[in-house]
Amino acid sequence: MPELTAPAAQDVAPATEGLTVALLGGGTVGSQVARILTEDAAVLHDRVGAPLTLGGIAVRTLDAERDWQADPARYTRDAEALVDGADIVVELMGGIEPARSLILRALEAGTAVVTGNKALLAAHGAELYEAASRSGAQLSFEASVAGAIPILRPLRDSLSGDTVHRVMGIANGTTNFILDRMDAEGASFEEALAEAQRLGYAEADPTADVGGLDAAAKAAILATLAFGSAYTLDQVSVEGITGITAEDNAAAADAGYVVKLLAIAERGTAEDGTQGAVLRVHPTLIPREHPLASVRGAFNAVFVEAENAGELMFYGPGAGGAPTASAVMGDVVAIAQRIVRGGPARLRTPVAALPALDPAEARTSSLVVLRVADQPGVLRRVAAVFEQHAVSIETLRQVRDDDAEIPGASLRLITHRARQRDLDAVVADLTALDAVHEVASVLRVEGN
Ligand code: NDP
Ligand code: HSE
Repeated sequence: MPELTAPAAQDVAPATEGLTVALLGGGTVGSQVARILTEDAAVLHDRVGAPLTLGGIAVRTLDAERDWQADPARYTRDAEALVDGADIVVELMGGIEPARSLILRALEAGTAVVTGNKALLAAHGAELYEAASRSGAQLSFEASVAGAIPILRPLRDSLSGDTVHRVMGIANGTTNFILDRMDAEGASFEEALAEAQRLGYAEADPTADVGGLDAAAKAAILATLAFGSAYTLDQVSVEGITGITAEDNAAAADAGYVVKLLAIAERGTAEDGTQGAVLRVHPTLIPREHPLASVRGAFNAVFVEAENAGELMFYGPGAGGAPTASAVMGDVVAIAQRIVRGGPARLRTPVAALPALDPAEARTSSLVVLRVADQPGVLRRVAAVFEQHAVSIETLRQVRDDDAEIPGASLRLITHRARQRDLDAVVADLTALDAVHEVASVLRVEGN
């Protein structure tokens, strides 16, 4: 069973000397961590109770131009030597290798690690948590989800006396920026993506962002902290925003909703009664008055529903060098304080062993837009398909389709919550119905 933090058994012996921080990566985030360690050294010394020394910065290109330049003598290509001489390792290289091997090397030696590497955690988290658990080393990763926003520590620590039912996050700034432009200015997906790239939000290769994989990695990490079990990327159902059209936005706006790419992790019960967690990322309609609807541009927000706390929302910048470095430094200082002051290591996170359920078990409502023949009996036949799969219709609106190639009408139906597999069956049967020219869009609805 993976443990998510160090075991509680042994106390950490107080350190009398200063602590050496090895920085693996000196790019967008790493250079800001180096800056804070250098410029705020006196404040950090005061908070930690001992000096934090930058042991070195592992990079690929020693003389590359950087957002913030450390003493040139600090840069090295020998990451392993840095790890071996460190009290705390900060991994900000990104990618799987060599980040994975270097983190394992540190953890196996009992050295604490801080990382912002969501791709690595979502793919190999269980292996890393187990290595940390075996040696008693701390593994912290606040920066891996939603940049500067403190969300993982609140989920793991502040809510540890409560039961988290659901976490819904706008966890990818690039896609929120694109969807916001499409909604506010009527921009096409392509126009909004080009603007995101021009402004530096989207990567040159934006596939992981617009395809939903970046948000899915964050969904796996959020679920791991919220439910105390280790989840991986392959347990998240993923749908990106590339298929979202101006028509989808118009239909959403007409019904009082806005489209957001949400990373959702929630407790659920499968049809056979198994309790588990359902993890999914997809474009989602949320009511305009929902707090998540007000998250504009490239900002992130995470909405948490807990048994006793009720509804909480965490909001802020989800990316960027300095904001993400703030989250990294929060982890570094917490670890350093514990090493310096001694005392009990952080308590073991209770492991709930909540299995990941098939995403088809998710219960959600949907907006279904159909292009239909405008003839007697069509509504009855459409409604019969919903009835056959026990999916209840909450609202229905018909609009004329005067400009469509095939004359007819558009039906916009919003369903009550139903199992995803039943909604999928409804859509498959509607597609085969001859009175239905086209299932124009199916968008899931949350928050109402
Ligand atoms: P960058 O690409 O800007 O920086 C990566 C750094 O790692 C560079 O300094 C690079 O060296 C170094 N590096 C990469 N591979 C190697 C290697 N094989 N050996 C030695 N050094 C290597 O990445 P970011 O700073 O943007 O991201 C770092 C991590 O933080 C990632 O995991 C990312 O997902 C995460 N993160 C980033 C956010 C952001 O806003 N940027 C937000 C939240 C999380 P060189 O400089 O020589 O090329
Ligand atoms: N590409 C990510 C985003 C960066 O757009 O939010 C932060 O993980």
